[in-house]
Amino acid sequence: MKKILIINGPNLNLLGKREPTIYGNASFEDYLNMLQKRYPQCAIAYYQSNIEGELINKIHEAGFDYDGIILNAGAYTHTSIALLDAIKAVTTPVVEVHISNVHAREPFRHVSMISAGCKGVIIGFGLDSYRLALESFLAEA
Ligand code: DQA
Repeated sequence: MKKILIINGPNLNLLGKREPTIYGNASFEDYLNMLQKRYPQCAIAYYQSNIEGELINKIHEAGFDYDGIILNAGAYTHTSIALLDAIKAVTTPVVEVHISNVHAREPFRHVSMISAGCKGVIIGFGLDSYRLALESFLAEA
């Protein structure tokens, strides 16, 4: 069974309450529940932190063990060379995801510090971005 870890960064604990016109009305816990039921062939773990160093620690911890990491680094996407280095330091492939289409938003969201270390990037499909990232791992031989 494939082991996949979803990591959400800062402010994503407020999904469902936070700027619902951009991020929707669903909480991540409800979405995760749905995902786990829909993909019983896959062990999907979840971690969220608002703290950059904790996200780095989690990537180190999971990054030699899991088959894939799905990472929404929130605003750290646009600032964190340390997260890029963490992604590059581990062997587990990381797929970067974003709920909103960051390229249709403010210019500072158009730049990602972490994409270069990631296997691929999925942007702008709402919460379905996480499922599409999961599919990318399941489609692998
Ligand atoms: C986000 C986009 C980021 O620019 C923002 O800071 C977030 C969420 C997204 O999923 O659309 O916190 O990563």
